[in-house]
Amino acid sequence: MSRLLIKNIKGLVQAGENLPRTVKGEEMKKLPVIENAFLAVENGKILSYGPMEDMLGIDDWRNLEIIDASGKYILPAFCDSHTHVVFAKSREEEFVDKINGLSYEEIAAKGGGILNSARVLGETDEEELYRSAWNRLDQVMYSGTGAIEIKSGYGLTPEAELKMLRVIKRLRENHPLTIKSTFLGAHAYPKELKENHPEYLRQIKEEMLPVIHEEGLADYIDAFCERGYFSVEELVEVMNAGKAYGLIPKIHVNQFSILGGVKAAVEHGALSVDHLEEISEEDIAVLKGSTCMPTVLPSCSFFLNIPFGKARMMLDNGLPLALATDFNPGTTPSGNMLFLWSLACIKLRLTPEEALNAMTINTAYAMGLSETHGTISEGKVANLIMTKEIPSLAYIPYSFGENTIDTVLINGKIM
Ligand code: NIG
Ligand code: FE
Repeated sequence: MSRLLIKNIKGLVQAGENLPRTVKGEEMKKLPVIENAFLAVENGKILSYGPMEDMLGIDDWRNLEIIDASGKYILPAFCDSHTHVVFAKSREEEFVDKINGLSYEEIAAKGGGILNSARVLGETDEEELYRSAWNRLDQVMYSGTGAIEIKSGYGLTPEAELKMLRVIKRLRENHPLTIKSTFLGAHAYPKELKENHPEYLRQIKEEMLPVIHEEGLADYIDAFCERGYFSVEELVEVMNAGKAYGLIPKIHVNQFSILGGVKAAVEHGALSVDHLEEISEEDIAVLKGSTCMPTVLPSCSFFLNIPFGKARMMLDNGLPLALATDFNPGTTPSGNMLFLWSLACIKLRLTPEEALNAMTINTAYAMGLSETHGTISEGKVANLIMTKEIPSLAYIPYSFGENTIDTVLINGKIM
């Protein structure tokens, strides 16, 4: 039995019982914080917590490790509900192309982009993919991420898509982070089938999904609904195919253009719609009152120099909002949630509290982890961030680029 007691915590953040599964609109401004608190962890789970004066009796446990957190905050570890951390190679040459004036679409048109990643991934063996993704997971874990969703989508052939998903499965079995898996075969049409969409859709339906189902390789189904990628009709076909195998839709939509994918995704029970750099009044109306979590990815906007999603407007319209990194080699070579927090405050005009709600409770929801992650509540997984000694919680996003994290705990263990 392993037991840990953290005492004298300056502020225990996002702590409480029966907190809502999602927070929206005005509610996002509120963040429960217990000042001068303790937190007890047993066997990797949160056992109890509260103000220091309620701690009596716990500190005479035997086999107890004690941490003094004077001057420090404890937060639930971040949940990153949208990433592509399994990839074969970084793409900094496209970064330079972009600086020299080419757009994301122009780079894709000359053989860069997703197809570039797919070509290299096809030639990279499973072991190497596993090793490099493992290192990326370590890297994000030390910057405060406790749960992460990972997509396939750089394979684009049955063989390579399954290879990616098997890597994700092995990571999920062996890495300390909590991992969810998403099948994104519909990320782009492979070069050879650019003019033969029905054939690629057939491969997704007949050669990929049955195996994914049989081997338990994915929780979610995704598609990139965008001009030049998947049309709304194709998106619907992919969502229906995934749902037939029990996969819940979680969709890339409205990154560059509004095609009507948000409405289609919501109508098909999507858990989240992600990107939303572009959004229409109709999209907002459709999202309102739905169970679908609108998710924005400001690190992607920052890197591509494209518009930031209209998060402020979404919140002011009463919607919930999630914030994820989109960590991938093409549009967001960063999985750093601390930087994302700063960006959300600086560029999206969210308050520190709104942004943190969007990176914990709402992302936990957007990856099906509401019961176990996203808040400090009894019985939840003890995935936690202990900050350095800092003057206030707002200091974290304010001091952008500074590592304000002292220690990360995963399953109650110091990493
Ligand atoms: O979420 N937008 C589509 N997919 C990824 C980027 C893929 C790439 O360029 O490698 C994204 O931004
Ligand atoms: Fe993405």
